Amino acid sequence: MALHLVDHPLIRHKVGLLRQHDISTSHFRTLANEITRLLTYEATKDFETEKKIIKGWAGKVEVDCIKGKKVTVVPILRAGLGMLDGVYDMIPGAKASVVGFYRNEETLEPVQYYVKLAKNIQERMALILDPMLATGGTLNATIKLLKEAGCKSIRGLFLCAAPEGINRILTEHPDVDIYTAAVDEKLNDVGYIIPGLGDAGDKIFGTK
Ligand code: URA
Repeated sequence: MALHLVDHPLIRHKVGLLRQHDISTSHFRTLANEITRLLTYEATKDFETEKKIIKGWAGKVEVDCIKGKKVTVVPILRAGLGMLDGVYDMIPGAKASVVGFYRNEETLEPVQYYVKLAKNIQERMALILDPMLATGGTLNATIKLLKEAGCKSIRGLFLCAAPEGINRILTEHPDVDIYTAAVDEKLNDVGYIIPGLGDAGDKIFGTK
């Protein structure tokens, strides 16, 4: 449906810290989850609430609760795992659907090697997690997989996105919403985002 650049001073500040070349693994992980909480806040802004009467400290009180919204959070292995706790902090009841792809070096197409979807996925809103939206190849494959499983409502959360990937997804999946903390300049010739964050998986897992 749309691109949502989540533009907030806290997010801009935290993305700036993420870009530091010598950032430690623990600081990168902390920031990735902090930014994800803020992205989740934004991506759930239109959730409906309903009134409920509960017993409060001073008697009956009317409160708001999220109305029957079921969510599945979809981390794309492996880097998407670095954003998972940020969503759980905000939506503790979210069920996870984990997907993994590797790139066929001849065709350059993503090949699925792992998938375990939440039950009743067709009734859930999917929140896909990947720190980097680069070419959009893996995201495209994940969206197709979720749609084939019957998922009707799909949103993606990213720390950093390239115009090439954004345009591809908005063209091929105009019904999907993209929430990103930054839109960067371009991809380099090996598909890394410039200025970007480098290899987000390596930074999250300490494997650089
Ligand atoms: N994946 C990454 O980790 N970084 C990029 O810049 C692009 C894809």
